[in-house]
Amino acid sequence: MESAFERSAGQEALIADWNPPVIDTSKPHSARIYDYLLGGKTNFAPDREAAEQTLAAVPHASIAARANRAFLLRAVDHLARTGVRQFLDIGTGIPIEGRNTHDAAQAVAPESRVVYVDNDPIVLAHARALLSSHADGATAYIDADARDPEAILAHSALSETLDLDQPLAVLMLAVLHFFPDDDKPADVLQRLTDRLPAGSHLVLSHLTGDFDPVTTGGGVTVYRKSGIPMQVRSRTELAALLPDGWEPLEPGVELVSHWRAEDGADLPDPSEIGCYGLVARKL
Ligand SMILES: C[S@@+](CC[C@H](N)C(=O)[O-])C[C@H]1O[C@@H](n2cnc3c(N)ncnc32)[C@H](O)[C@@H]1O
Repeated sequence: MESAFERSAGQEALIADWNPPVIDTSKPHSARIYDYLLGGKTNFAPDREAAEQTLAAVPHASIAARANRAFLLRAVDHLARTGVRQFLDIGTGIPIEGRNTHDAAQAVAPESRVVYVDNDPIVLAHARALLSSHADGATAYIDADARDPEAILAHSALSETLDLDQPLAVLMLAVLHFFPDDDKPADVLQRLTDRLPAGSHLVLSHLTGDFDPVTTGGGVTVYRKSGIPMQVRSRTELAALLPDGWEPLEPGVELVSHWRAEDGADLPDPSEIGCYGLVARKL
């Protein structure tokens, strides 16, 4: 029987040309720490050490990481059900079987097209898993830095997969807290979304100290000591990152666990989550 999951010629060419990326396992990386917190196996001793230090400082960090990933899947499911068929997922993270953006989008609409972007070689090493699109849709992977939106938007893999003249959803989940103010996150979002047509969506999640500043501050210190820049932001600061002309969907900036939670869901205490989610629409 023919498989529904077939690669396009472009994807086959990408895989044929594929050179294993060089992965520095001597230092912790945010994607691998997050993988450990989610119970994954794609991590090395320095990542596990940093993750264990994070858990010592923030005992509920794994609950928060799972709530963030669940928010990603809920937001993509919601957008796919309202007709969105193009997704640009920046700061993809290490793939999780069956729990990636294309899995959620193509479960609703198999023709959905997804471009993934990350700058961590460990994610690149797992890009094949991100390329296993449904035959009716498409996926692509770009190895790029989110702080260079022009390079992402001009990349041939993007124009071959997405139509920038049609509305699309841009996702940056659990990424912008790795951008201190010096990285000008509002400016990055502005440049990324400037040329997108009205009706496009932006999905963000971001760590906050609004509910438990002392514990969250302990976690930030662990990341910074591991060489990973981190800056948490308040509800107001996150809302202020939205470029002009973008309007948050209901319920606005909300804890990832609470954003359009399923009826009857057992909601955790806000101090256990400390991560906001937001879905906005370009007017
Ligand atoms: C905590 S993980 C989040 C993964 C996924 N978005 C999620 O929410 O489940 C953060 C990801 O952002 C990526 N990242 C961090 N800074 C980045 C940058 N400047 N450019 C591209 N990717 C970045 C990391 O490599 C990592 O894969």
